[in-house]
Amino acid sequence: MKLNILFCASEMTPFAKTGGLADVVAALPKHLAKLGHTLKVVLPRYYQIDKATLKLSLSGLSVDMGPLGPHHFAAFKKDLEGFEVYFIDYELYFGRKNLYTDENGFGYPDNDRRFIFFSKAAMELARALNFRPDILHANDWHTAAQPILLNTALRHDPFWSQTASIFTIHNLEHQGVFNPRAFEYLGIDRSHFNPFEMEALGALNLLKGAVYHADKITTVSKRYAKEIQTPEFGFGLHEHIKAHSYKLIGILNGVDYEEWNPKTDPYIAQNYDLEDLSGKRVCTTDLQKKMGLPKRSDIPLIGFVGRFARQKGIELIAQGIHEMVHLPLQFVFLGSGEKWAEKFFSDLAKKYENIAAYIGYSNPLAHQIEAGSDLFLMPSIFEPCGLNQIYSLRYGTLPIVRAVGGLDDTIENYDPQSKSGDGFKFYDATKDALVGTVRWAVDTWLHDKEGIKKMIHYAMTRRFDWDRSAKEYTKVYCDALESKI
Ligand code: ADP
Ligand code: GLC
Repeated sequence: MKLNILFCASEMTPFAKTGGLADVVAALPKHLAKLGHTLKVVLPRYYQIDKATLKLSLSGLSVDMGPLGPHHFAAFKKDLEGFEVYFIDYELYFGRKNLYTDENGFGYPDNDRRFIFFSKAAMELARALNFRPDILHANDWHTAAQPILLNTALRHDPFWSQTASIFTIHNLEHQGVFNPRAFEYLGIDRSHFNPFEMEALGALNLLKGAVYHADKITTVSKRYAKEIQTPEFGFGLHEHIKAHSYKLIGILNGVDYEEWNPKTDPYIAQNYDLEDLSGKRVCTTDLQKKMGLPKRSDIPLIGFVGRFARQKGIELIAQGIHEMVHLPLQFVFLGSGEKWAEKFFSDLAKKYENIAAYIGYSNPLAHQIEAGSDLFLMPSIFEPCGLNQIYSLRYGTLPIVRAVGGLDDTIENYDPQSKSGDGFKFYDATKDALVGTVRWAVDTWLHDKEGIKKMIHYAMTRRFDWDRSAKEYTKVYCDALESKI
């Protein structure tokens, strides 16, 4: 069945990115379009997306924001390979430097208005274009208002009544919890503000509402779909999610191998692949030089790329680093986020000769770390899917991960007996478990050369293609439509 899909999200590579959501929004629609579906992707037109690179699609559009009155907006457009991307232009809400936070890292106080407006505007745009979607696919809390609206105010609207909604949870930590006054912006009947639907401790919780109202919910790995039904990973919503688990499915993200491939990667010092790994050594030397690390080939180089946030296990690293630094290894950290961590990691780099850090965001350096490192550290507290560990596999850089969410689903633990696996896993979120596993990985790298060789070989042949995920999403779309009839 060929479907019309309206795909809405708050970020997309290369237009605006803070994390993996952007990579997914760039890749999944492309692969859905390849399967023959008709896609329109809708994003906010942030300040950083230059209008001159877009075409004006429609102007004079408007949505009602309840007590805030009507908001008039325009929509811009860009044609990509196989589908169109639309940008909602509303200067007052999106004409700012960052996507979600001010320069001190605090969420903008009007994020409720910004994203409820965006959610409504994207739907209004579809109507204005007369693009009647079979599927409305919303992602994370930013677009959580959409499944809510579809199943309440728009349930009997002739334009929308045949549309099924899919809501994908990329990260349950962020739920869109706001002052209950924000409920008025939705413009739906007051009776929906109750603890079964979208009220949580007196506040409005948009993600909770989407879980209630969406026809299907997906998460970005199978393991995470199970985890979010437990108190440890549910961020207060585990009972609510459990109650709706009959419509919850885990679909693992894929990787865009056009972007992440050591054979063709334009950012790395020398391309390489399985047949000839000599380029990887060149990449290591280049990375050491760039980052001011001593040129060593007798000890492993461990890379880290990620947001400096609790989720990524940075506290565990901070607790264990003073032990790990005395092992025969080098570390390179790339990240930005929590201010204490930015200072902590840059201080470490000043103090220890075998630690380097780049505080900030750099896509080329992310590629160079994937290519130049021997091991990749990802000790996440929780990880819905995680992309970096999958990129690492393709680059022959063996991941050291905590066995949670997508990390557990994608990485196979090393078994020294059979010399099988492609990474090193630990289970407890403790400093000792982390340090012990890094020690194990370093020992293996130093003394079990045959095992490491086999692991690299296996890692580099594994594939996590978007084609497979796109087919799984198609099945979910079809099931959602069926359950709607
Ligand atoms: P999350 O979405 O939770 O941040 P993922 O592993 O899914 O985690 O995706 C993170 C993405 O962001 C990857 O593409 C990674 O390379 C990129 N990334 C994160 N931090 C940085 C950084 N400081 N510089 C460059 N890329 C980064
Ligand atoms: C989120 C998750 C990450 C996932 C990404 C894309 O930001 O933290 O694990 O890979 O979304 O789905």
